[in-house]
Amino acid sequence: MNKHLLLGVPNIDHQHDELLRSLQHLLAAGKCDEGFSEVISRLTIQIHDHFQSEERFMAGLALPPEMMREHEREHSRIIEELTQMHLDTMAGLRLSFEDIIGHFVSYISQHVIEFDLRLKPYIAQPA
Ligand SMILES: [Fe+2]
Ligand SMILES: [Fe+2]
Repeated sequence: MNKHLLLGVPNIDHQHDELLRSLQHLLAAGKCDEGFSEVISRLTIQIHDHFQSEERFMAGLALPPEMMREHEREHSRIIEELTQMHLDTMAGLRLSFEDIIGHFVSYISQHVIEFDLRLKPYIAQPA
């Protein structure tokens, strides 16, 4: 993974890496053996699980309460957007496979840059 996206917390970095890797993999394949709906569900669940583990991690940091709330709100917003995209797809609104995966990539990488990396100053550096 691009080292500029690393937070320095191994399990969080690993989860970001896994997510971005599976998206790159899908993009490179240009298609999937599963249906659209299955791929979107699987990715949304993976992202949801990641957000939960990140929120547990954040709870152990001395973050300003407003920062914590905003970050959690942003996680919920992303899950809502992805769920909406899923509903649109099921309703027959045709997004291409590349568009769907592209949306996932931009949600994730933008979120890592705009929210996750801002946790850095609150993470104790190993001596
Ligand atoms: Fe986050
Ligand atoms: Fe994250």
